[in-house]
Amino acid sequence: MNEARLHLPEGYAIRLMSDQDYAQISAICKMVYPTERPYTDEELAAHHRVFPDGQFVVVHVETGAVAGVHFTLLIQMMHFHLDDSWETLTAGGSFADHDPSGHTLYGADLFIHPGHQHHGLGKALTVATRELVTRLGLWRMVGGSRMPGYGKLAAVMEPDDYIDKVKKAEMTDPVLTVHLHDGWDVVTAIRGYLPHDEESHGWAAVIQWISPGCDPPAAFALRWVPGRA
Ligand SMILES: CC(C)(COP(=O)(O)OP(=O)(O)OC[C@H]1O[C@@H](n2cnc3c(N)ncnc32)[C@H](O)[C@@H]1OP(=O)(O)O)[C@@H](O)C(=O)NCCC(=O)NCCS
Repeated sequence: MNEARLHLPEGYAIRLMSDQDYAQISAICKMVYPTERPYTDEELAAHHRVFPDGQFVVVHVETGAVAGVHFTLLIQMMHFHLDDSWETLTAGGSFADHDPSGHTLYGADLFIHPGHQHHGLGKALTVATRELVTRLGLWRMVGGSRMPGYGKLAAVMEPDDYIDKVKKAEMTDPVLTVHLHDGWDVVTAIRGYLPHDEESHGWAAVIQWISPGCDPPAAFALRWVPGRA
């Protein structure tokens, strides 16, 4: 996590999740996603069991308090559809679909305690997971970005037009803008990723980051497309 450390503001540290963190993580989850059921201890223990190296927490060193998390798992994206929901991609939040042979690190969740937002912690956690992608020699990272600024405009604007304006910085979205600043690219808009996300009117943007210098896995190479040499 050497590069991530460079992005961390003073007084914070990133480490892997432990069972001591579960209660604090659930409490933060309740604050940032008031319409969702927060993670249970059992779910967090399951994430830790299937892929401990992919569960990051950032802590406020002086108080020891958890300030935010980034939860990831490995998937074979070919086993899924581009517009699959969060529930499908995470096997109902259990991460039971984690596949150690997967080429894609799926960023299942990233959230920061409201009292610690806008300090660069989301960015530092994103950098920490990219370092994991590089360390494991993976091809890419994929995620679904909420777009909570879209809900109030849904009646007057198509989601693709909204994303386009956010990409051009003509509009700011509290979540998608952060991801774009952090180097993600938007692949497409999808509906129903988080069906209860009223702020995003049920929409999300599929986002990805390709590891520089890493070739796509053989199954994605163009020579496998029918009709290509
Ligand atoms: C989205 C979230 C994780 C961001 O975390 P954060 O720690 O506040 O974000 P950071 O401080 O690291 O900001 C990252 C980048 O976005 C930029 N940014 C943040 N808010 C911005 C805004 N309102 N307008 C423009 N840029 C903004 C920062 O400047 C930084 O870019 P830079 O490094 O190029 O300067 C946090 O707001 C959150 O937990 N939201 C609720 C849960 C959620 O919706 N999670 C996302 C699920 S997809």
